[in-house]
Amino acid sequence: MSYEYERVAAPRSGLRLHLNENTAGCSPRVLAALQTMTREDAAFYPDYTDAIEACAGWLGVAHDRVLLTNGLDEGILAASVAAMRGSEGERRYEAVVVVPAFDMYAACVDAAGGRVVEVPLGPDFSFDGDAVMAAVTSRTRLVFLTNPNNPTGQAIRRDAILAIADHASHAIVFLDEAYADFAGDTLIGDAALDRLPNIIVGRTFAKAWGLAGLRVGALIGSTETMAPLRRVVPPYSINAYAARALPAALDDRDYYDWYLDQVRTSKGLLYDALRKLSIPFWQSGGNFVLARFGSDAARVLEGAAARQVFLRDRSRDPGCEGCVRIGAGVIDHTEACIAAIREVLCGAP
Ligand SMILES: Cc1ncc(COP(=O)(O)O)c(C=O)c1O
Repeated sequence: MSYEYERVAAPRSGLRLHLNENTAGCSPRVLAALQTMTREDAAFYPDYTDAIEACAGWLGVAHDRVLLTNGLDEGILAASVAAMRGSEGERRYEAVVVVPAFDMYAACVDAAGGRVVEVPLGPDFSFDGDAVMAAVTSRTRLVFLTNPNNPTGQAIRRDAILAIADHASHAIVFLDEAYADFAGDTLIGDAALDRLPNIIVGRTFAKAWGLAGLRVGALIGSTETMAPLRRVVPPYSINAYAARALPAALDDRDYYDWYLDQVRTSKGLLYDALRKLSIPFWQSGGNFVLARFGSDAARVLEGAAARQVFLRDRSRDPGCEGCVRIGAGVIDHTEACIAAIREVLCGAP
């Protein structure tokens, strides 16, 4: 079996609620910073001192624990390449992926020559730590955990993460915290990381900070565990514009707080609307909500798209039959989305 990331259409106009992007755009301070870029800035290889300092400061970690990446995607790729190095033939190395999951884990492990071992979530998308530990073998080199999960929005308890890292101490446990800003829960700074140095935490500035187009992510981990990943990431992986943008973005905490608030309110509006429509959904720690429209899923996706509201079909993900993922960002956008869904399902505007 081979795995590929399936690109979806991303129209410029309309409401893009299908890629978990920040639907407000980045902080105006980012654009102001980019406007200071000179011809030399474009011509010279970038310096990352300010960007690393800003990132380390924001996350409250030492500089040498941070590796900036070209989006968190590159962090996933770097972990996969580093962990699967030497994987061959019948004795291929393995990566455990809890499904449904972000597609890039399997795509990167597969591309790096590893074998993907899928572990399904439990009933109602609950996290089954025992099942994950049971899937770990002597060939396991990587375990992907996502907290909160995409596409379900469900959390993993801290003790479950730590138990897995303890059990799989010969492997890298890649804790993807792409949506941690929205959930308000992180393992960064947790004292347990000192005794479990095999945990690497992944973060992205694509979501809450609105830098998806510029591509900036970060990995945080112990010096030893990160060393093989540093050898994979090219020395100038982040371009000069992204490196300039990051400190400017992180400087605007009011913008960040405002956006988190919009997301929180939007999720509440979506929950209310879905409840009234009797559509089952899962309360989410992310900036999206997964809802089960069942046999109406295709109609909702198509009908919303016809109204320029783009939602994500997740119905082919394991356990997600009839499910649609709805991005939750700016309140006005959410209201427009709810109106479109109501119109499709109930007819009247
Ligand atoms: C769980 C998860 N991890 C990583 C990423 C990739 O983030 P980035 O845009 O920084 O590459 C995404 C993007 O949607 C995601 O959902």
